Amino acid sequence: RIVPVIMAGGKGTRLWPLSRSAAPKQFMQFVNDYTLFQSTLLRVSDQTVYEPAVVITNESFHVLVTEQAREMGVALSAIVLEPVPRNTAAAVAAAALVISRLFKEDRTIHVLASDHDINVDDSYHEAHLIARLEAADGKLATFGITPTEPAIGYGYIEVGEALASGAYKVSRFVEKPAFKNALEMLSAGGFYWNSGIFMFSLSTVLVEIAEHAPEVLKAVNLAVSKSVADHDCVLLDTDAFERCPDISFDYAVMEKTSRAVVVPSAFGWSDLGSWDAVWKTGRHDENHNVASAHTTLTDTRNSLIMTQGAHLAVHGLEGIAVIASEDAVYVGRLHDSQNVRKVVSLLAAAP
Ligand code: GDD
Ligand code: MG
Repeated sequence: RIVPVIMAGGKGTRLWPLSRSAAPKQFMQFVNDYTLFQSTLLRVSDQTVYEPAVVITNESFHVLVTEQAREMGVALSAIVLEPVPRNTAAAVAAAALVISRLFKEDRTIHVLASDHDINVDDSYHEAHLIARLEAADGKLATFGITPTEPAIGYGYIEVGEALASGAYKVSRFVEKPAFKNALEMLSAGGFYWNSGIFMFSLSTVLVEIAEHAPEVLKAVNLAVSKSVADHDCVLLDTDAFERCPDISFDYAVMEKTSRAVVVPSAFGWSDLGSWDAVWKTGRHDENHNVASAHTTLTDTRNSLIMTQGAHLAVHGLEGIAVIASEDAVYVGRLHDSQNVRKVVSLLAAAP
Protein backbone atom coordinates (compact mmCIF):
# COMPACT_ATOMS: atom_id res chain seq x y z
CA ARG A 1 0.00 0.00 0.00
CA ILE A 2 1.00 3.58 -0.67
CA VAL A 3 2.03 5.73 2.28
CA PRO A 4 0.35 9.16 2.14
CA VAL A 5 2.26 12.11 3.56
CA ILE A 6 0.13 15.13 4.35
CA MET A 7 2.05 18.38 4.69
CA ALA A 8 0.10 20.55 7.09
CA GLY A 9 2.59 23.00 8.53
CA GLY A 10 2.05 26.02 6.28
CA LYS A 11 1.08 29.45 7.54
CA GLY A 12 -1.49 30.26 4.85
CA THR A 13 -0.66 33.96 5.11
CA ARG A 14 -2.38 34.89 1.85
CA LEU A 15 -5.77 34.25 3.40
CA TRP A 16 -5.31 36.69 6.25
CA PRO A 17 -7.23 37.62 8.38
CA LEU A 18 -9.32 34.42 8.42
CA SER A 19 -6.24 32.22 8.22
CA ARG A 20 -4.22 33.03 11.35
CA SER A 21 -1.04 31.71 12.83
CA ALA A 22 -3.02 29.85 15.49
CA ALA A 23 -5.29 28.16 12.91
CA PRO A 24 -4.08 28.50 9.33
CA LYS A 25 -6.11 27.80 6.24
CA GLN A 26 -5.66 24.02 6.07
CA PHE A 27 -7.59 23.71 9.34
CA MET A 28 -10.44 25.95 8.16
CA GLN A 29 -13.67 25.11 6.42
CA PHE A 30 -14.21 26.80 3.04
CA VAL A 31 -16.04 24.71 0.52
CA ASN A 32 -17.88 21.94 2.36
CA ASP A 33 -18.52 20.50 5.80
CA TYR A 34 -14.91 19.51 6.27
CA THR A 35 -11.78 21.52 6.79
CA LEU A 36 -9.27 21.37 3.94
CA PHE A 37 -7.08 19.07 6.06
CA GLN A 38 -10.03 16.75 6.70
CA SER A 39 -10.88 16.66 2.99
CA THR A 40 -7.25 15.71 2.35
CA LEU A 41 -7.53 12.83 4.84
CA LEU A 42 -10.64 11.62 3.01
CA ARG A 43 -8.78 11.52 -0.32
CA VAL A 44 -6.37 8.93 1.08
CA SER A 45 -8.83 6.98 3.20
CA ASP A 46 -9.27 3.99 0.86
CA GLN A 47 -7.49 1.30 2.91
CA THR A 48 -7.16 -1.02 -0.08
CA VAL A 49 -4.81 1.54 -1.63
CA TYR A 50 -3.35 3.56 1.25
CA GLU A 51 -1.72 2.99 4.61
CA PRO A 52 -2.87 5.35 7.38
CA ALA A 53 -1.37 8.76 6.60
CA VAL A 54 1.76 10.33 8.00
CA VAL A 55 0.98 13.94 8.87
CA ILE A 56 3.88 16.37 9.14
CA THR A 57 3.15 19.69 10.76
CA ASN A 58 4.32 22.30 13.22
CA GLU A 59 4.31 21.34 16.89
CA SER A 60 1.75 24.10 17.52
CA PHE A 61 -0.84 22.37 15.30
CA HIS A 62 -0.60 19.04 17.11
CA VAL A 63 -3.99 19.41 18.79
CA LEU A 64 -5.73 20.62 15.62
CA VAL A 65 -4.42 17.62 13.66
CA THR A 66 -5.34 15.11 16.36
CA GLU A 67 -8.83 16.50 16.86
CA GLN A 68 -9.66 16.94 13.19
CA ALA A 69 -8.50 13.38 12.41
CA ARG A 70 -10.45 11.98 15.36
CA GLU A 71 -13.57 13.82 14.18
CA MET A 72 -13.30 11.96 10.88
CA GLY A 73 -12.67 8.63 12.62
CA VAL A 74 -9.40 8.37 10.70
CA ALA A 75 -6.32 6.64 12.13
CA LEU A 76 -2.85 8.00 11.36
CA SER A 77 0.45 6.17 10.99
CA ALA A 78 2.28 9.04 12.66
CA ILE A 79 2.20 12.75 13.35
CA VAL A 80 5.65 14.21 12.81
CA LEU A 81 6.05 17.47 14.72
CA GLU A 82 8.41 20.25 13.67
CA PRO A 83 9.69 22.42 16.55
CA VAL A 84 10.25 25.30 14.09
CA PRO A 85 9.05 25.76 10.50
CA ARG A 86 11.78 24.83 7.99
CA ASN A 87 9.67 24.65 4.81
CA THR A 88 8.68 21.71 2.64
CA ALA A 89 12.07 20.24 1.68
CA ALA A 90 12.66 19.53 5.37
CA ALA A 91 9.08 18.30 5.78
CA VAL A 92 9.37 15.80 2.92
CA ALA A 93 12.78 14.62 4.15
CA ALA A 94 11.56 14.16 7.73
CA ALA A 95 8.44 12.29 6.62
CA ALA A 96 10.52 10.04 4.35
CA LEU A 97 12.97 9.20 7.14
CA VAL A 98 10.16 8.47 9.60
CA ILE A 99 8.50 6.22 7.00
CA SER A 100 11.70 4.26 6.49
CA ARG A 101 11.81 3.68 10.27
CA LEU A 102 8.15 2.69 10.48
CA PHE A 103 7.86 0.46 7.43
CA LYS A 104 11.46 -0.77 7.16
CA GLU A 105 11.20 -1.31 3.40
CA ASP A 106 10.91 0.71 0.21
CA ARG A 107 7.44 2.13 -0.32
CA THR A 108 5.61 4.43 -2.71
CA ILE A 109 5.01 7.78 -1.02
CA HIS A 110 2.20 10.10 -2.02
CA VAL A 111 2.87 13.66 -0.81
CA LEU A 112 -0.20 15.86 -0.50
CA ALA A 113 -0.64 19.50 0.36
CA SER A 114 -3.29 19.87 3.05
CA ASP A 115 -4.89 23.04 1.75
CA HIS A 116 -6.24 22.31 -1.73
CA ASP A 117 -9.77 22.01 -3.04
CA ILE A 118 -9.85 18.93 -5.29
CA ASN A 119 -12.59 17.20 -7.19
CA VAL A 120 -12.08 13.44 -7.02
CA ASP A 121 -13.43 12.02 -10.27
CA ASP A 122 -12.38 9.43 -12.88
CA SER A 123 -9.58 11.62 -14.20
CA TYR A 124 -8.22 11.90 -10.65
CA HIS A 125 -7.95 8.12 -10.39
CA GLU A 126 -6.47 7.81 -13.88
CA ALA A 127 -3.79 10.37 -13.11
CA HIS A 128 -2.96 8.54 -9.87
CA LEU A 129 -2.48 5.24 -11.67
CA ILE A 130 -0.03 6.89 -14.07
CA ALA A 131 1.82 8.56 -11.19
CA ARG A 132 2.16 5.19 -9.43
CA LEU A 133 3.68 3.61 -12.54
CA GLU A 134 6.19 6.44 -12.79
CA ALA A 135 7.01 6.27 -9.08
CA ALA A 136 7.67 2.54 -9.46
CA ASP A 137 10.01 3.45 -12.32
CA GLY A 138 12.18 5.67 -10.10
CA LYS A 139 10.63 8.99 -11.11
CA LEU A 140 9.43 11.95 -9.08
CA ALA A 141 5.92 12.39 -10.41
CA THR A 142 3.93 15.57 -10.00
CA PHE A 143 0.41 16.28 -11.14
CA GLY A 144 0.24 19.01 -13.78
CA ILE A 145 -2.68 21.40 -14.00
CA THR A 146 -3.45 23.26 -17.23
CA PRO A 147 -2.72 26.93 -16.56
CA THR A 148 -5.50 29.45 -17.13
CA GLU A 149 -3.79 32.71 -16.16
CA PRO A 150 -0.26 34.07 -15.59
CA ALA A 151 -0.35 33.21 -11.88
CA ILE A 152 2.87 33.92 -9.99
CA GLY A 153 2.12 31.75 -6.96
CA TYR A 154 2.75 28.41 -8.70
CA GLY A 155 5.54 26.31 -10.08
CA TYR A 156 5.55 25.98 -13.89
CA ILE A 157 6.51 22.77 -15.65
CA GLU A 158 7.64 22.66 -19.25
CA VAL A 159 6.78 19.30 -20.78
CA GLY A 160 9.45 17.26 -22.52
CA GLU A 161 9.41 13.81 -24.07
CA ALA A 162 6.15 11.82 -23.88
CA LEU A 163 6.40 8.59 -21.88
CA ALA A 164 4.52 5.32 -22.46
CA SER A 165 2.48 5.73 -19.26
CA GLY A 166 0.84 8.96 -20.41
CA ALA A 167 3.18 11.14 -18.33
CA TYR A 168 5.85 13.47 -19.74
CA LYS A 169 9.41 14.11 -18.79
CA VAL A 170 9.87 17.54 -17.22
CA SER A 171 12.19 19.56 -19.39
CA ARG A 172 12.17 22.57 -17.07
CA PHE A 173 10.64 23.37 -13.69
CA VAL A 174 10.29 27.05 -12.78
CA GLU A 175 9.09 27.70 -9.24
CA LYS A 176 7.08 30.91 -8.70
CA PRO A 177 8.16 32.95 -11.75
CA ALA A 178 8.04 36.73 -12.09
CA PHE A 179 4.85 37.97 -13.74
CA LYS A 180 6.63 38.63 -17.04
CA ASN A 181 7.95 35.05 -17.20
CA ALA A 182 4.59 33.64 -16.20
CA LEU A 183 2.98 35.55 -19.05
CA GLU A 184 5.61 34.29 -21.51
CA MET A 185 5.15 30.68 -20.43
CA LEU A 186 1.38 30.98 -20.65
CA SER A 187 1.45 32.34 -24.19
CA ALA A 188 4.21 29.95 -25.32
CA GLY A 189 2.11 26.93 -24.28
CA GLY A 190 3.49 23.51 -23.33
CA PHE A 191 3.51 24.34 -19.62
CA TYR A 192 1.60 22.95 -16.67
CA TRP A 193 1.21 24.30 -13.19
CA ASN A 194 2.77 22.16 -10.50
CA SER A 195 -0.06 21.04 -8.24
CA GLY A 196 2.31 20.50 -5.32
CA ILE A 197 1.09 16.88 -5.08
CA PHE A 198 3.74 14.24 -5.64
CA MET A 199 4.27 10.50 -6.02
CA PHE A 200 7.66 8.80 -5.72
CA SER A 201 9.32 5.92 -4.01
CA LEU A 202 10.98 6.35 -0.65
CA SER A 203 14.33 5.25 -2.06
CA THR A 204 14.16 7.67 -5.01
CA VAL A 205 13.27 10.73 -2.98
CA LEU A 206 15.99 10.06 -0.42
CA VAL A 207 18.59 9.74 -3.18
CA GLU A 208 17.41 12.95 -4.84
CA ILE A 209 17.36 14.94 -1.59
CA ALA A 210 20.83 13.63 -0.77
CA GLU A 211 22.08 14.77 -4.17
CA HIS A 212 20.39 18.17 -4.47
CA ALA A 213 19.88 19.22 -0.85
CA PRO A 214 22.49 17.39 1.23
CA GLU A 215 22.39 20.00 4.01
CA VAL A 216 18.66 19.43 4.43
CA LEU A 217 19.07 15.66 4.62
CA LYS A 218 21.95 15.93 7.08
CA ALA A 219 20.08 18.20 9.51
CA VAL A 220 16.82 16.28 9.24
CA ASN A 221 18.54 12.92 9.65
CA LEU A 222 19.96 14.09 12.96
CA ALA A 223 16.61 15.63 13.97
CA VAL A 224 14.87 12.29 13.32
CA SER A 225 17.51 10.17 15.05
CA LYS A 226 17.33 12.41 18.14
CA SER A 227 13.52 12.70 17.98
CA VAL A 228 11.24 11.84 20.88
CA ALA A 229 8.36 9.44 20.20
CA ASP A 230 5.14 9.59 22.20
CA HIS A 231 2.21 7.37 21.10
CA ASP A 232 1.84 8.12 17.39
CA CYS A 233 3.78 11.41 17.62
CA VAL A 234 7.39 11.95 16.61
CA LEU A 235 8.80 15.23 17.91
CA LEU A 236 11.87 16.24 15.90
CA ASP A 237 14.91 17.40 17.83
CA THR A 238 14.92 21.20 18.07
CA ASP A 239 18.67 21.88 17.88
CA ALA A 240 19.18 19.67 14.86
CA PHE A 241 16.05 20.77 13.00
CA GLU A 242 16.81 24.46 13.57
CA ARG A 243 20.03 23.98 11.62
CA CYS A 244 18.15 22.82 8.55
CA PRO A 245 18.08 25.26 5.60
CA ASP A 246 14.67 26.88 5.03
CA ILE A 247 13.85 25.95 1.43
CA SER A 248 10.86 24.49 -0.36
CA PHE A 249 10.88 21.01 -1.90
CA ASP A 250 10.21 22.67 -5.27
CA TYR A 251 13.32 24.86 -5.20
CA ALA A 252 15.52 22.29 -3.48
CA VAL A 253 14.63 19.19 -5.49
CA MET A 254 12.04 19.60 -8.25
CA GLU A 255 13.89 22.41 -10.06
CA LYS A 256 17.10 20.39 -10.00
CA THR A 257 16.32 16.71 -10.42
CA SER A 258 16.50 14.98 -13.79
CA ARG A 259 13.95 12.40 -12.65
CA ALA A 260 10.90 14.67 -12.63
CA VAL A 261 7.87 13.69 -14.67
CA VAL A 262 4.52 15.41 -14.97
CA VAL A 263 1.16 13.68 -15.16
CA PRO A 264 -1.37 15.79 -17.07
CA SER A 265 -4.34 16.13 -14.73
CA ALA A 266 -7.86 17.11 -15.70
CA PHE A 267 -9.49 16.95 -12.27
CA GLY A 268 -10.80 20.11 -10.65
CA TRP A 269 -8.06 21.67 -8.56
CA SER A 270 -7.58 24.92 -6.70
CA ASP A 271 -4.93 25.70 -4.15
CA LEU A 272 -7.18 28.37 -2.60
CA GLY A 273 -3.97 30.34 -2.43
CA SER A 274 -5.56 33.77 -2.46
CA TRP A 275 -8.90 35.45 -1.85
CA ASP A 276 -9.25 35.54 -5.60
CA ALA A 277 -8.98 31.73 -5.74
CA VAL A 278 -11.51 31.38 -2.92
CA TRP A 279 -13.86 33.66 -4.88
CA LYS A 280 -13.39 31.54 -8.02
CA THR A 281 -14.25 28.24 -6.31
CA GLY A 282 -17.06 29.66 -4.17
CA ARG A 283 -20.79 29.67 -4.87
CA HIS A 284 -21.64 32.80 -6.90
CA ASP A 285 -24.84 34.79 -6.62
CA GLU A 286 -26.48 36.42 -9.66
CA ASN A 287 -24.01 39.34 -9.47
CA HIS A 288 -21.00 37.00 -9.29
CA ASN A 289 -20.43 37.71 -5.64
CA VAL A 290 -19.37 35.09 -3.12
CA ALA A 291 -20.67 36.02 0.31
CA SER A 292 -20.69 34.25 3.69
CA ALA A 293 -23.55 34.33 6.17
CA HIS A 294 -24.13 37.62 8.03
CA THR A 295 -23.55 39.85 5.01
CA THR A 296 -25.77 42.33 3.15
CA LEU A 297 -24.80 43.43 -0.37
CA THR A 298 -26.28 46.18 -2.51
CA ASP A 299 -25.13 47.24 -5.97
CA THR A 300 -22.06 45.02 -5.59
CA ARG A 301 -20.50 42.76 -8.23
CA ASN A 302 -17.62 40.28 -8.65
CA SER A 303 -16.73 40.60 -4.98
CA LEU A 304 -15.91 38.33 -2.07
CA ILE A 305 -17.55 39.32 1.22
CA MET A 306 -16.81 37.10 4.21
CA THR A 307 -17.22 37.57 7.94
CA GLN A 308 -16.65 35.54 11.07
CA GLY A 309 -17.76 38.22 13.47
CA ALA A 310 -19.69 41.44 12.92
CA HIS A 311 -22.40 41.73 10.29
CA LEU A 312 -20.92 43.12 7.06
CA ALA A 313 -22.92 45.49 4.87
CA VAL A 314 -21.31 46.70 1.64
CA HIS A 315 -22.52 48.94 -1.15
CA GLY A 316 -21.28 49.75 -4.62
CA LEU A 317 -18.25 47.45 -4.75
CA GLU A 318 -16.75 45.93 -7.88
CA GLY A 319 -14.03 43.27 -7.72
CA ILE A 320 -13.25 43.82 -4.05
CA ALA A 321 -12.48 41.43 -1.20
CA VAL A 322 -13.83 42.40 2.21
CA ILE A 323 -12.82 39.85 4.82
CA ALA A 324 -13.64 40.30 8.49
CA SER A 325 -12.41 38.00 11.22
CA GLU A 326 -13.29 38.50 14.87
CA ASP A 327 -10.51 41.03 15.36
CA ALA A 328 -9.29 42.24 11.98
CA VAL A 329 -10.62 43.37 8.60
CA TYR A 330 -8.97 43.21 5.18
CA VAL A 331 -10.21 45.24 2.21
CA GLY A 332 -8.44 44.99 -1.14
CA ARG A 333 -8.75 44.42 -4.87
CA LEU A 334 -9.63 40.80 -5.52
CA HIS A 335 -7.53 40.21 -8.61
CA ASP A 336 -4.18 41.01 -7.02
CA SER A 337 -4.93 39.53 -3.64
CA GLN A 338 -1.53 37.75 -3.64
CA ASN A 339 -0.51 41.04 -2.06
CA VAL A 340 -2.14 40.08 1.23
CA ARG A 341 1.28 38.60 1.99
CA LYS A 342 2.73 42.11 2.02
CA VAL A 343 0.14 43.25 4.55
CA VAL A 344 0.94 40.29 6.75
CA SER A 345 4.67 40.94 6.66
CA LEU A 346 4.09 44.61 7.54
CA LEU A 347 1.96 43.48 10.47
CA ALA A 348 4.59 40.98 11.57
CA ALA A 349 7.21 43.74 11.46
CA ALA A 350 5.05 46.21 13.41
CA PRO A 351 5.94 46.65 17.10
N1 GDD B 1 5.05 20.35 7.58
C1 GDD B 1 5.18 21.48 6.91
N2 GDD B 1 6.18 22.34 7.24
N3 GDD B 1 4.29 21.77 5.94
C2 GDD B 1 4.44 22.93 5.27
C3 GDD B 1 5.48 23.85 5.56
C4 GDD B 1 6.39 23.53 6.63
O1 GDD B 1 7.32 24.27 6.97
N4 GDD B 1 5.35 24.92 4.72
C5 GDD B 1 4.30 24.65 3.94
N5 GDD B 1 3.73 23.46 4.28
C6 GDD B 1 2.56 22.79 3.68
C7 GDD B 1 1.38 23.73 3.50
O2 GDD B 1 0.49 23.63 4.60
C8 GDD B 1 0.77 23.20 2.21
O3 GDD B 1 -0.15 22.14 2.47
C9 GDD B 1 1.95 22.62 1.43
O4 GDD B 1 2.96 22.35 2.40
C10 GDD B 1 2.50 23.54 0.33
O5 GDD B 1 2.98 24.72 0.95
P1 GDD B 1 2.54 26.16 0.46
O6 GDD B 1 3.20 27.17 1.34
O7 GDD B 1 1.05 26.23 0.33
O8 GDD B 1 3.23 26.20 -0.97
P2 GDD B 1 2.84 27.13 -2.17
O9 GDD B 1 1.36 27.08 -2.42
O10 GDD B 1 3.43 28.46 -1.95
O11 GDD B 1 3.61 26.42 -3.42
C11 GDD B 1 3.52 25.02 -3.65
O12 GDD B 1 2.24 24.65 -4.10
C12 GDD B 1 1.84 25.23 -5.37
C13 GDD B 1 0.44 24.73 -5.70
O13 GDD B 1 -0.42 25.06 -4.68
C14 GDD B 1 4.56 24.66 -4.70
O14 GDD B 1 4.63 23.25 -4.76
C15 GDD B 1 4.22 25.22 -6.08
O15 GDD B 1 5.14 24.74 -7.04
C16 GDD B 1 2.82 24.80 -6.46
O16 GDD B 1 2.46 25.34 -7.73
MG1 MG C 1 -0.33 26.54 -1.30
